[in-house]
Amino acid sequence: MSVAASLSRSPLGSAIVFREVVKTYDTPKGPFQALGGVTFSVEQGEMFGLLGPNGAGKTTLISILAGLSRATSGQVSVLGHDVVSDYAQARRALGVVPQELVFDPFFSLREALRIQSGYFGIRHNGDWIDELLHSLGLADKANANMRQLSGGMKRRVMVAQALVHKPRVIVLDEPTAGVDVELRQTLWQFIARLNREGSTVLLTTHYLEEAEALCGRIAMIKRGQVLALEKTSVLLSRASSNVLRFKTDGTLPPALADIARITGRVVQLPTHNALEVEQMLAAVREAGCVVDDIEIRKADLEDVFLEVMADVPASALSGGSEGPAGQSVGVDSFTAGPPQGETAPSGGSAGPAGQSVGATEPAPGRPKLANAPSGGSEGSKSQSVGASP
Ligand SMILES: Nc1ncnc2c1ncn2[C@@H]1O[C@H](COP(=O)(O)OP(=O)(O)O)[C@@H](O)[C@H]1O
Ligand SMILES: [Mg+2]
Repeated sequence: MSVAASLSRSPLGSAIVFREVVKTYDTPKGPFQALGGVTFSVEQGEMFGLLGPNGAGKTTLISILAGLSRATSGQVSVLGHDVVSDYAQARRALGVVPQELVFDPFFSLREALRIQSGYFGIRHNGDWIDELLHSLGLADKANANMRQLSGGMKRRVMVAQALVHKPRVIVLDEPTAGVDVELRQTLWQFIARLNREGSTVLLTTHYLEEAEALCGRIAMIKRGQVLALEKTSVLLSRASSNVLRFKTDGTLPPALADIARITGRVVQLPTHNALEVEQMLAAVREAGCVVDDIEIRKADLEDVFLEVMADVPASALSGGSEGPAGQSVGVDSFTAGPPQGETAPSGGSAGPAGQSVGATEPAPGRPKLANAPSGGSEGSKSQSVGASP
């Protein structure tokens, strides 16, 4: 995709522009390229999804956008304000909900929001703070100390803090990782309302179902490269048209195991027509597998995601160098940003893409993509997909 094509302008102009963004971290093992020239833009009024497996570079990109980390090369702007040369304006236009929970344990919720307003020079923000507390289901916790809140409540507070200055561009980095269904619904309802009222939203999520339901356009990234960027409906139509799903206790023949999504007893295979379905079932029977609960369904975003991720051989991406393994890798060479900037984000710091499940908890409902996609090109595919029955 050419830079010009991927930066096409809407009549309103772009809310966010990433242009050839490269980020190389200095690590004990040498330089590691987390972003290999990322170019795309988010138009004003869009709800845009940034998807990718752990370690893809999503949080790195958002940290650069928020001015918490500096790109090695390339440009990033928010509503036309360069995030480096015009930091204050860019920052003011942005509300960022970070992946990490960062909070001050000494204040009550309402105090924290008042102080946060002060950082942006806003006084008399009480009405909006009340509305935020109410809309995020925090009203009865307003006077509670931040320490006393549960993880899910703290997550809501992070959202309230990000929105306290009424930013025109809202960025959420996995705001629903490990939180309960009720919060996910409250949160998305509120964010969707702000979007309808004109805010631009960029989000990353592990829940492809959420991205499919909420986002008008989606970019898929892996190892610091954009692999797909389309309207959600176009991405969905790109999928193999159907999925054959059944349960078995047996071992699949290797040719099928290679292309299957396997979750416990549940096997899902991409298919294009009835003949293929027959052939697959015949191969399964020949391998001695007994199957039950056979069903054929339409492909969803997760199927597309797995296809996109599997398409690209690992060696073709970012020079093939592996991420620093497993844990936080300390501090990048650039250290001028605010405190939470440069530590490797815990949920995403899995490094080598193969076994990244990491810190986020399994959640109810659909399988998360955390451990699923990377299996595609790293060989461990047959066991990977998440938690659903
Ligand atoms: N401060 C850092 N120093 C070195 N490597 C890092 C640092 N932060 C992230 N990385 C690495 O950069 C890659 C991208 O990480 P990240 O942006 O957190 O991905 P994502 O948010 O998509 O999971 C990973 O391989 C990660 O280990
Ligand atoms: Mg991340």
